Amino acid sequence: MCGIVAYLGNKQALPLILSGLRKLEYRGYDSAGVALMFDNEIVVRKTAGKVSDLEALLGSNGYDKDANIGFGHTRWATHGEPNDTNAHPVFDDNNEIVVIHNGIIENYKVLKTRLEREGYQFRTDTDTECLVHLIRSHYKNVMDFETAVRLALAEVDGTYGMCVLSKFEPDKIIAARRGSPLVLGVGEDEYIIASDATAIIPHTRQVLYLLDGEMVIVTRNKFEIKTIHDEKIERELEVITFDLEEIEKGGYEHFMLKEINEQPDSITNTMRGRIIKDNGLVKLGGLINVTEKLKYAPRIIISACGTAWHAGLVGEYMIEQMCKIPVEVEYASEFRYRNPVLYPNDIMFVISQSGETADTLAALKEAKSRGADVYGIVNVVGSTIARETHAGVYTHAGPEIGVASTKAFTSQLTGLALISLMIAQYRNSLPHDEIKKITDELLRIPDKIKQILALNDQILEIARIFKFCQHMLYLGRGYNFPVALEGALKLKEISYIHAEGYPAAEMKHGPIALIDQNMPVIFIAPKDSTYEKIISNIREVKARKGVVITITDFDSDGPSEEYSDYIIKIPHTLEMLSPILTTIPLQMFAYHLAVLRGCNVDQPRNLAKSVTVE
Ligand code: AGP
Ligand code: GLU
Repeated sequence: MCGIVAYLGNKQALPLILSGLRKLEYRGYDSAGVALMFDNEIVVRKTAGKVSDLEALLGSNGYDKDANIGFGHTRWATHGEPNDTNAHPVFDDNNEIVVIHNGIIENYKVLKTRLEREGYQFRTDTDTECLVHLIRSHYKNVMDFETAVRLALAEVDGTYGMCVLSKFEPDKIIAARRGSPLVLGVGEDEYIIASDATAIIPHTRQVLYLLDGEMVIVTRNKFEIKTIHDEKIERELEVITFDLEEIEKGGYEHFMLKEINEQPDSITNTMRGRIIKDNGLVKLGGLINVTEKLKYAPRIIISACGTAWHAGLVGEYMIEQMCKIPVEVEYASEFRYRNPVLYPNDIMFVISQSGETADTLAALKEAKSRGADVYGIVNVVGSTIARETHAGVYTHAGPEIGVASTKAFTSQLTGLALISLMIAQYRNSLPHDEIKKITDELLRIPDKIKQILALNDQILEIARIFKFCQHMLYLGRGYNFPVALEGALKLKEISYIHAEGYPAAEMKHGPIALIDQNMPVIFIAPKDSTYEKIISNIREVKARKGVVITITDFDSDGPSEEYSDYIIKIPHTLEMLSPILTTIPLQMFAYHLAVLRGCNVDQPRNLAKSVTVE
């Protein structure tokens, strides 16, 4: 998982590559590097750290020379420490062939042993290095760059989005993909290849998404797409419609803060055109062709990772309640290796912001290979998961750059509510006036979110009080149990405070032993069917001197005030929609705590935005 940008054209390549890498840095930020083709010499500069460290290394020395072919990489290390040496690009022994790579070469040990026996010397600890020596070893025999790359790729197991340059054919970039995304941008007399389109849009909107098993050979004024088995591919260029402003910070200090504040709009966009004005019913164009399958599905499996998995848990409550179809929610990473039992007509939904998560993609493929129909709930248009699914719904939350998912989550919840309502319509499992009541309320959600965002100062003050805490417990029931998990995940990933999410009633079966005056407990307790029960759970914590923060409704009465140390009151909504609202103060709380602790909220340590490795 990493960011790749390659350029071949008439402009100076370096500034273009660097600005592309800055846009892709969310994909990995362990190290950064560039390779530039200068009159038959390839120059590589690379360093541990971020793109800004690479820029500092490059300084102003000599790189304003005319190199108009080159590429750059930001790494998320899988094999070998994130240090200078292991940074990409990676050279062959003679500095004549150079590679950047996103993914994992699974058979690298076997390849490395063989190549070392043949005399190649490994200078890095990366799996990537075997790729460059392999290309070199084939080149020695076939003396043709493209054939050498093809033969090398044929020997590789695992995943790659890779680009390679060679001194032997200096006017050429070859890129190939299996499992890690690559997009080719076609401008006027120039080509840009990147891991995602954000690095391409400033230069051209005409793109071609490479598919698995494809490679592109770019030379001056010409590009060719082939399979790695040398079959020619003809495909029309696509035109990208989203704007770059959508992914810039727009005056906010961090992308995460911007994305939290965008939620009234992102949710509106998820709903746009999907709720029929006259009757309040739901229409989802992406699922129209599979309505019969949805109507008669004996079971639905939802598979995803991380935050998207939490959205899936809420979806389980929604679909079971409204459609009366049994639902199972599976971690994608477990599903793929568990030998799952699928019945004929089972349907799988996969949920993914990026549409590139390797585990989710593998679960999708596993289900497909066992004959199931798989539908997507995906944010990034044109992403691999969106392409691999039989049908699906885009969440249209807009680009999400902060590593901690915020607006993508609430859009996933909104999408799941719409999907449940649409299935309920087809199955007649919910009266139409009930459906209308829910869609009317959905349309009011963006305004209610605005009211929550206005609580910023109060939430910041509470965050200040807990700046130095070491642990935190998040408890919720029913629809808000997954919100407890999500709140805890947000806190740990950006503030590095240890946090656990639990169903509130389970507390007494173990975690209650942790409660003392040093254990802050966040209760998610809107006025719903479990309110009275959760009040008892709050009392149980207070009785043991725990510190209680309660998220509840504006109109909730005495008990929570009496037994809570801090209360955040938010607007009331229907029970099934409450996770969309209750999540937001938790996002704001985690954000403020992380900023107060001096953490890098947009790029937390050890993480990356899209996890395209297993
Ligand atoms: C959430 O804040 C995460 N950083 C992470 O759990 C994420 O939700 C997960 O990796 C799934 O990503 P996806 O939605 O792009 O598939
Ligand atoms: N597996 C490669 C490495 O660890 C590439 C990782 C990436 O995708 O950034 O260097």
